[in-house]
Amino acid sequence: GKGEYDHYMLKEINSQPTALSNTIEGRIEDGEVAFEELPAGSFADVETVQFVACGTSYHAAMYSGQLLRAAGIPTEVLRASEYEATSGPVDENTLVVAVTQSGETADTLDAVRTATARGARSLAVTNVVGSTAAREADDAIYIRAGPEVGVAATKTYSSQAVTLALLTQRLAADVPTATPADDRDAMLETLADLPEHVETVLETTTAEQLAEETLDSTSYFFIGSRLGHSVALEGALKFKEITYEHAEGFASGELKHGPLALVTDETPVIAVLTGSGVEKTKTNAIEANSRGAPIIAVGPDDNPLADVADAKLSVPETHPVWAGLLANVQLQLLSYHAADLLERPIDKPRNLAKSVTVE
Ligand code: F6R
Repeated sequence: GKGEYDHYMLKEINSQPTALSNTIEGRIEDGEVAFEELPAGSFADVETVQFVACGTSYHAAMYSGQLLRAAGIPTEVLRASEYEATSGPVDENTLVVAVTQSGETADTLDAVRTATARGARSLAVTNVVGSTAAREADDAIYIRAGPEVGVAATKTYSSQAVTLALLTQRLAADVPTATPADDRDAMLETLADLPEHVETVLETTTAEQLAEETLDSTSYFFIGSRLGHSVALEGALKFKEITYEHAEGFASGELKHGPLALVTDETPVIAVLTGSGVEKTKTNAIEANSRGAPIIAVGPDDNPLADVADAKLSVPETHPVWAGLLANVQLQLLSYHAADLLERPIDKPRNLAKSVTVE
């Protein structure tokens, strides 16, 4: 049940420290990523990687896609529903990673079937043991987030992003042409602190007050660059999904290529300021601010917009790869509280289903 919480979504947001501890458990051994399902060397033949996913899972895939490219592995992150038209040629050295918490999303299953029929190797990253994706793919890795009842994916996103970040490091170690990131060791070492940092966010968040202050806005724009771009897209998706308010996510630099026309003093710009790329977000947020938009800075307290922002959502200092996930937790809370104040049916938004089994 929901226990002390009004909604499953809030319960699931608050269970992320535990969910993430389970996700991480045993995944790093002697400084190396360990998946019992796939021992070291399992990916030695991989030359290119394609992620296929929908919605929130697509955003988790975008996040890790960048990490994989940084390791020198050619990587595409494709919308599962557009796979047929967007995938280039694949072969047995192509690893197609289906990112799907339910393991039952029709578009994603269809993309994997298309890819395997064309000769690719497949891997499912999923929360549900025995799901269709897990059964049909050549291999499966479980994110171990525990059951998620709320339609909006929260803890499964965090657990997916962490599992995929670990998968990228496993690939970087296995693929002969890959170059593991310079800060790989620091990234793996700091992962152990992530559940505690999420706890800090949950205990100190000002998201409810901020949701109240911005509740009469006409639109909400989420911007970010690099890893922060995918966090911004996810923030906007969650916000529109459960509040029914208009929200859009953009790459920071894209704001001035059209969306800026919509910016007024009634359109808060929520700037994700974690990881690299924050200078670009700063410049573009300031541009929006000069058109009257209130700026909400989501990041560490010493972020580059600290002097300009009208409000902030703070995240603890940590490795840039994990910091984006902390920013995401703040955005989950912002969406939740805005939806709660608007008395939306948070756990079952209209027109949506937990797993989408039609194409
Ligand atoms: C949004 C949400 C959806 C799912 C998408 C894919 O909160 O939950 O966007 O992420 O339908 O679902 P899975 O991961 O089950 O394939």
